[in-house]
Amino acid sequence: MANPQPWDWNMPKGVSGISQRVYDLHMLGFYVCLGIGAVVFTIMFIAMFRFRKSRGAVAETWAHSTRLETVWTIIPILLLMMLAWPATRLLIDMNDVGDADLTVKVTGFQWRWHYDYVEYEKANTGVAFISSLAAESNRVRQLGSGLDPHSVKDEDYASYLLDVDNPLVLPVGVKIRFVITADDVNHAWWVPTLGWKQDAIPGIVNDAWTQIDEPGTYRGQCAELCGRDHAFMPIVIRALPKAEFEQWLASRKAGAASTAALVTGPGHRG
Ligand code: CUA
Repeated sequence: MANPQPWDWNMPKGVSGISQRVYDLHMLGFYVCLGIGAVVFTIMFIAMFRFRKSRGAVAETWAHSTRLETVWTIIPILLLMMLAWPATRLLIDMNDVGDADLTVKVTGFQWRWHYDYVEYEKANTGVAFISSLAAESNRVRQLGSGLDPHSVKDEDYASYLLDVDNPLVLPVGVKIRFVITADDVNHAWWVPTLGWKQDAIPGIVNDAWTQIDEPGTYRGQCAELCGRDHAFMPIVIRALPKAEFEQWLASRKAGAASTAALVTGPGHRG
């Protein structure tokens, strides 16, 4: 499932190869913990019930077993290696932002996101815009608005505080590099279906990448407490097939050119 639904207890599998691997690693860790828990609790309960004083149990007097200590040192080492190996490989792959076909610069500022399509297939695009909380969510959230948050829908999805005016449009099947920073205070750019979260810090440029497998709408939020409206700077990705994305980019380019001619430039929206 691409977007969080009620009673989603597990982390999402996501919509990219990396997010699938993050999910698999998470499940591996979960099952290892489950196995350790089952063994430890079984032994503990057997010891508690079978060897209790009222059943005449007498404590052993020996205190050292080299064989036992070897076993309970080697097994945890093997388990840790089993977890550390795929985790390290995944971290290395997650950091490999090379060979991207699209570079998007993400700038967080109180309390919006600025998206700049820096480069697509080695050409400057000149497309940039600001993405803010959608007007409907904004109306409903006002103190004493009397409006029902459950009434806010984007198609069928209950999108209260999870919708924006200008979504980040991205192509499917293309390696996308994000460079992420901030203008004022720390923010964090987080779309759970991509499998990662990246801090947006003033004066520092972090990077991350994704390659989305399925077209769709993917939602996220600012994930670093950044002030009064921290809860009101959501993220929406619209992932389109490559050809549709290129059409969209071309139409935005034409729009950007005419806006530039008007000298006004893209303005902040209230
Ligand atoms: Cu931006 Cu929290």
